[in-house]
Amino acid sequence: MSPSAELAVIGGSGLYALLDGATEHVVRTPHGEPSDAVTIAEVGGRRVAFLPRHGRDHRHPAHRIPYRANLWALRSLGVRQILAPCAVGGLRPDLGPGTFVVPDQLVDRSSGRVQTYYEQGAVHVSFADPYCPVGRRTLLAAATGRSVPAHDGGTMVVVEGPRFSTRAESRWYAAIGGAVINMTGHPEAVLARELALCYSSIALVTDLDAGVRSGHGVTQQEVFRVFGENTERLRGLLLDAVAALPVGRDCPCPHSLDGISLPFELP
Ligand code: ADE
Repeated sequence: MSPSAELAVIGGSGLYALLDGATEHVVRTPHGEPSDAVTIAEVGGRRVAFLPRHGRDHRHPAHRIPYRANLWALRSLGVRQILAPCAVGGLRPDLGPGTFVVPDQLVDRSSGRVQTYYEQGAVHVSFADPYCPVGRRTLLAAATGRSVPAHDGGTMVVVEGPRFSTRAESRWYAAIGGAVINMTGHPEAVLARELALCYSSIALVTDLDAGVRSGHGVTQQEVFRVFGENTERLRGLLLDAVAALPVGRDCPCPHSLDGISLPFELP
């Protein structure tokens, strides 16, 4: 029997495994190899896939992640709902290390990344609300259920990296309304939308970005350390959320491509 899953978690920095008793599957796609093998297990009666965004040994830096292959691979397994945890910097003093944020908006400041599957034809998806409202609600409820405070909403600014931002850039991102900043939130979100998948994110603040505090600026060691300190809280919350995600998709996401003629069939 070919492997299948209904929903997936794409793990970020420091979250390289999630599921106990999982089977491992190498998935091929027309867009190349995904970041790593996909692991699949049952959680709360649902078939759940896990894919470490950077690879389990963090071999793919944020700007080189095979985003298209990752989303395609998950859809080809049957996945229709995705929860996407990630590490972020805080752009506001009240969003300090250890805080969880469930963003409701994003600003794309990446550059040079391929951010579409549709290289021919007229396929323009709506992206006004980049995250699935049901996924967001489910993540927030899971956080509440575990007494983990999580901010409802906030704009995630996605930068190209791999360097962190200058203080001037960071202050500018805050001034335009950014709440948190990271390097992987895009094009993952729009590629999910282009495949009519539900996609929502939970961001763990690992640092205050360079414009928000004085001192040495953001370091990689700090990001990895704070993520490591919070991995268990995040893992529990994610497992609760996958078990609680409604089976039916009562949200706009499955209709993202309605009325659009596609140049190829989706997997
Ligand atoms: N990921 C975690 N912290 C970050 C920061 N301050 N800037 C960009 N990406 C990050």
